[in-house]
Amino acid sequence: MYKGQEPTQRKPITVKTLAKMKQAREKIAVLTAYDASFAAVLEAAGVDIILVGDSLGMVVQGRQTTVPVSMDDMVYHSRLVARGCRTPLLMVDMPFMSYPTVELALRNSARLMQEGLAQMVKLEGDGALVEIVRQLSRSGVPVCMHLGLLPQSVHKLGGYRVQGREEAAAGKLIDDALRLQDAGSDVLLVECIPAELAARLTETLEAPLIGIGAGAACDAQVLVLYDMLGITPGRRPKFSKDFLEGQPSIQAAVAAYVRAVKSGEFPGTEHCVA
Ligand code: KIV
Repeated sequence: MYKGQEPTQRKPITVKTLAKMKQAREKIAVLTAYDASFAAVLEAAGVDIILVGDSLGMVVQGRQTTVPVSMDDMVYHSRLVARGCRTPLLMVDMPFMSYPTVELALRNSARLMQEGLAQMVKLEGDGALVEIVRQLSRSGVPVCMHLGLLPQSVHKLGGYRVQGREEAAAGKLIDDALRLQDAGSDVLLVECIPAELAARLTETLEAPLIGIGAGAACDAQVLVLYDMLGITPGRRPKFSKDFLEGQPSIQAAVAAYVRAVKSGEFPGTEHCVA
């Protein structure tokens, strides 16, 4: 929570708030949500950023991957979440193949902002997206670049694997992150990379860095809501934790997550993937 404010008294979180939180070394709590009721629970618990992730394809729609999720799906769920909260920054995923060119990226990000009321869009990729990020940023679209493990590329990667283990891959990731930041990525997100590499990146970048399966040093932590409530079918990822266990309600579980992120207690070393 931003310096001593109760969730109910908070001002809306903006890109400026996030930059100040990084400077003040105040941890940023991020969770996914896909509807108005959960958005209200997250807001009441003091979550700083709500991500309408394309993970909705798996946890809400029951698909095997995020690849089939459409722009219409993202606009619909973004609008639902926007109705349920006022203060967290609303970040929304651009789905698979909605940003292969500057023109499509501009058109589809405009849909997410105008119809879905998104306040920031998230794109998966690497340094090859520098020009797209530059044009989005110039057009007034706040951007979060998602690096490391890219779930939309699962078929190309051949599975959900840790990224950036080798020195060359780690160096490329740092170089790409810096170029994307310089092009206008206001926030960056890394998924499933070694904790040491994420710590190096956190120190190197001026922009806030969100981590998932990337260790405790990141400026922010994100989890998929259904994973941290222990209701995702199948095996929970190693980097996640069931926060509902031992808590009397979903509201209490989300509040426990926010406290654990803010205090640096989560993630522990047992949640590191490499
Ligand atoms: O879609 C999603 O929920 C995400 C998180 C896993 C970061 O991108």
